[in-house]
Amino acid sequence: MDKSLAPNAEDSSHSGASIALPRRVFPFLALCLAATPAAAIDKAETQDLMVQCAACHGADGIAREADVPDLAGQHDVYLYNQLKNFKSGKRPHKEMRYLGRHMSDEEMQAIAEYYASLPRN
Ligand code: HEC
Repeated sequence: MDKSLAPNAEDSSHSGASIALPRRVFPFLALCLAATPAAAIDKAETQDLMVQCAACHGADGIAREADVPDLAGQHDVYLYNQLKNFKSGKRPHKEMRYLGRHMSDEEMQAIAEYYASLPRN
């Protein structure tokens, strides 16, 4: 039998490279998966990102914790600039910098526009 045709048993090494989010985010992820607003953004990768955002900023852009800012109804240019600043480190914040590193310019733009379009409540 040709061994090269067998399923690769070492495939699990791939998942080892996946991102390690701060622990406290995980319990929220499952909840937010169902609640994440999907309509405005159709790229799967961007939606994956936004599930993470929702863990802290709320699926509706309204944060549930006092130390996390609301994103809903903010100006899109402002949001976009903040994301860029987090990514570059100009605005220092551990979690946001980490997430920023995984965002392309396009994704930051799309996410900023999406949150800007949500009602402030
Ligand atoms: C672990 C919790 C956490 C996650 C996950 C998270 N954020 Fe944040 N975010 C914060 C906190 C806390 C701040 C406030 C940072 C500060 O004090 O400067 C913030 C700030 C921001 C700001 C600036 C808002 C303002 O009013 O200045 C934006 C924009 C933002 N986050 C977008 C996102 C996006 C987009 C995602 C998903 C890719 C995300 N965040 C994921 C916790 C989080």
